[in-house]
Amino acid sequence: MPTLADEFRGWLGQSRRRIGELGLEPRIEHVGRVAQIGDGVATVTGLPETRLDELLVFDGGVKGLAVDLGEQAIGCVLLGDTGGVTAGSMVHGTGVVARVPVGEALLGRVVDGLGSPLDGGALVVAETLAPVEQPAPAIVDRALVTRPLATGLLVVDAMIPLGRGQRELIIGDRGTGKTAIAVDAIINQRASDVICVYAAIGQKASSVAQVIEAVRRYGAPEHCIFVIGEADAAPGLQWLTPYSACTMAEYFMTHGRDVLLVIDDLTKHAAAYRQLSLLLRRPPGREAYPGDIFYIHSRLLERAAKLAPERGGGSLTALPIAETQAGNISAYIPTNLISITDGQIYLDPRLFYEDQKPPVDVGKSVSRVGGKTQAPVLQELSESLRLEYAQFLELEVFTRFGTMVDERTRKVIAHGRRIRAVLRQPRFAPLTLGEQVALLTAVSEGVLDDVPLDRVDAFRSGLGSWLAQHCPEAVSPEDRAATLSEHDRLTNALKALARAVAMPMTADRP
Ligand SMILES: Nc1ncnc2c1ncn2[C@@H]1O[C@H](COP(=O)(O)OP(=O)(O)OP(=O)(O)O)[C@@H](O)[C@H]1O
Ligand SMILES: [Mg+2]
Repeated sequence: MPTLADEFRGWLGQSRRRIGELGLEPRIEHVGRVAQIGDGVATVTGLPETRLDELLVFDGGVKGLAVDLGEQAIGCVLLGDTGGVTAGSMVHGTGVVARVPVGEALLGRVVDGLGSPLDGGALVVAETLAPVEQPAPAIVDRALVTRPLATGLLVVDAMIPLGRGQRELIIGDRGTGKTAIAVDAIINQRASDVICVYAAIGQKASSVAQVIEAVRRYGAPEHCIFVIGEADAAPGLQWLTPYSACTMAEYFMTHGRDVLLVIDDLTKHAAAYRQLSLLLRRPPGREAYPGDIFYIHSRLLERAAKLAPERGGGSLTALPIAETQAGNISAYIPTNLISITDGQIYLDPRLFYEDQKPPVDVGKSVSRVGGKTQAPVLQELSESLRLEYAQFLELEVFTRFGTMVDERTRKVIAHGRRIRAVLRQPRFAPLTLGEQVALLTAVSEGVLDDVPLDRVDAFRSGLGSWLAQHCPEAVSPEDRAATLSEHDRLTNALKALARAVAMPMTADRP
């Protein structure tokens, strides 16, 4: 029978063996403590080696970014739920700046600003990690914007054309269809090789779900990445979202691909940043925004570029969205963004309520780059369209007072109303270049002038199948080199369609 001493000896031997097996080696770890914690920000002490924008990990796994480095303490923006983190809990320095996974593995996924999946799928196994903040491409690495980016919306493609590598602001009041334009642009890329990245900042979960659903239903979701910082996400994560999305988009640009980045929206991004800055006790400036509010948006949008051929020739087109209050585009954040971007698409609430959707105000909208990239055949037609439309808008105001007008003016107004009807377009129904050219030909040839106004929609929706049947390849190929080879035949086909839709009882009505 073993004595107590034997048992003890055995136990001692075992313990020695176990300790001997343990691989003990020295490890340097930077550890600090939380001095103060509040809504989305924390003050940390005892991490003297921390770098700017370094990722810190709190007890419980929540991450934070060091954004203020002081002599005594570090100001840190939290990137997740702060439950469990208290004053006095430990903070670990990681020695690396915030990075996100990039690569093909992200295509078709819904992730947050740190690249963690939100779609219930597996963790994203990326090729590499890339820093969320990267310098914009240098001037020598850039090339001129030469290729168009078709949105499938006639009013945009004809009047405010976009080029690959351009930055175009979509601006308007609440609920005027800003997201709808961006989503239509994404959906139209189902017919192209453009990769789309949609970044949602401070949006309601239901709005985000609608966007994802629309792209899954009508677009090519396998070419899209959704980076979501919802309204209830930590403000730090909302602030980080567009930078992460831009990094994910840049990966494809540097690999020679064309990318479309939608940032929905930068007004909420500015508000999230203001909240963080005030909590970090940075001095408030105009409208309580911090002094660097212009810089945080310009350094983001400067990353959109068309790269030179020796850099792979890829491009990143940015479509930031901004919300205005009562149509005030001269407010602080809107003016900042207008001056950073290469033009804006202004959505007018008055047009929206008049059911002119998409409610693009062509007078206040401009594209300073894309005009040169437009297919010449479309360019020619839209030039006269712009002129005729502007003329009509001026005359229409005049006739609102009930002034008697002569026959010629009446014709110009009737023609203008057809143009306006043609520029109206339902959602999820992008037009091909051929259909756009055909529609504008119908306008310029006066084919639509005899079609009742309420039948113009039927003309547009029937156009695609009618052309395929009666005049295929009138406009080809479907890119910048497109030419209109059979003008007369196309006009005749359009006239026949106009007759068919104008007579609702006709049997061959489309
Ligand atoms: N071309 C269109 N045809 C028909 N309905 C449209 C069109 N464009 C937008 N809408 C409708 O208008 C409503 C508002 O659109 P959307 O959500 O895109 O606006 P928003 O400006 O992004 O709003 P918010 O300011 O809330 O983000 C939606 O119900 C949408 O379906
Ligand atoms: Mg929206």
